[in-house]
Amino acid sequence: MTHIQVLSDKPTLISHALNLIVDKIHTTLQQQDKFTLALAGGSTPKPLYEALAQQSLPLEKIHIFWGDERYVPADDNESNQLMARQAWLDQVDFPPANIHPMPTNNNDPAHDAQTHEQEIREFFGVKAGEFPTFDLILLGMGDDGHTASLFPKTEALTVSDRLVTVGNKDGKPRLTFTYPLINHAHCVMFLVAGENKRPALAQIFSENGDETLYPAKAVKPQGELIWLLDEAAGAELNG
Ligand code: 6PG
Repeated sequence: MTHIQVLSDKPTLISHALNLIVDKIHTTLQQQDKFTLALAGGSTPKPLYEALAQQSLPLEKIHIFWGDERYVPADDNESNQLMARQAWLDQVDFPPANIHPMPTNNNDPAHDAQTHEQEIREFFGVKAGEFPTFDLILLGMGDDGHTASLFPKTEALTVSDRLVTVGNKDGKPRLTFTYPLINHAHCVMFLVAGENKRPALAQIFSENGDETLYPAKAVKPQGELIWLLDEAAGAELNG
């Protein structure tokens, strides 16, 4: 089931996303004892993470992963882990064991991708060939229509038998969730703001957009798909 919501501006988008996420956490934890959340990187979600730091949440029941990571040290300004820690995770009392960053410190992206895959499998108790179900995966979208680190025309788009693989942005390695892992989620929520996202969104929401050129188009989760757009990004989308 797909929901598309166009909010008046970015602060309104962030506040709406916050309410949806907090509500989803509380509702889910009435049925189960853990909430598994994969964070998006980039700049859009930073104010959302800062707002989450102000919320009173059952942190001991929330497990944090990342949908992708630049292959840089965890203290590098490019690190998605660093951004989320500075905005939220290190500002509140998360149990350290509940935070599951993608490893990027062995000078071997393929090996680190396998290591993280094993960590996810062990956490969820799933065997090779099976895919775990995250409660919520947050995603952004680049101007080129990439999402996570699934970039146009890259090999990562073709990986169907793993949870984590090596992405490639202009020759620089990244680690990324694969399509099958993303599409096994209970809920995937895109947060997209800014006029520069319009051309890619037009392709993604058109019948004949090419998924290899606009990778976000191939995100079709078995659960809920929510697109939260600000007016600048989503004004031209009808419906
Ligand atoms: C990353 C992200 C990436 C991001 C998009 C949008 O590691 O950069 O995971 O997929 O979500 O590039 O980035 P902005 O939010 O900065 O536009």
